[in-house]
Amino acid sequence: MLYTILIRSAPTHCGRGRRAVITLGTLVALGVSAVSLAAEPVRPGLTPKLQGLLMEEMIQIELAMQEVFSAIVQGRHTTVAEKGQSIHDSFILDQSMTDEDRQDLKAAVPAEFLQMDAYLHELSASLAEAGRTEDTPRQVELFGRMTESCVACHSTYVTDRFEGLETSDVPAEWGLGPLP
Ligand code: HEC
Repeated sequence: MLYTILIRSAPTHCGRGRRAVITLGTLVALGVSAVSLAAEPVRPGLTPKLQGLLMEEMIQIELAMQEVFSAIVQGRHTTVAEKGQSIHDSFILDQSMTDEDRQDLKAAVPAEFLQMDAYLHELSASLAEAGRTEDTPRQVELFGRMTESCVACHSTYVTDRFEGLETSDVPAEWGLGPLP
């Protein structure tokens, strides 16, 4: 749309129209590659060590989420607190990663991936707190936000493994905070 309007308004008898086309062409190309980069699967860019750490973390998180769910609906607050804490503590950015691993991770993934990771981190800390204060409505709310964050990250950055999430219409605000 913008493309057409600018071309039309550019004078055709000198080089300006053509320059506008070239400039816009470049901008469009850059825009397109920025979009596809944002949704590029992150796994191929990770070192084997990071991939291993990430998979291990994910398996632990999923198990803890299942246990939290069960604990929330049965009012087992201590388990909610413990499992929320264990999700928080299992994070790859906090785990026994060397400085080099951390640098490797930051270089390999987009800033938004790290933001989603950090947000899930905050949510799990709040969940642990809601377990300690025995606040069931808050636990339910945070569990929902956490589930959104799993889906948001997987549907944006892990579609090479989770193909079923590729076409899902995930709301843009999922997984990015702020904390409820
Ligand atoms: C910031 C991004 C991000 C968030 C948030 C995230 N994941 Fe993942 N998850 C990944 C990536 C990347 C992989 C692929 C790991 C691989 O295969 O190397 C993955 C893989 C997984 C796997 C497959 C593990 C395996 O190899 O068997 C499970 C299960 C999983 N995630 C659960 C969860 C759950 C549950 C949540 C939310 C509580 C969550 N993830 C949140 C990025 C994320």
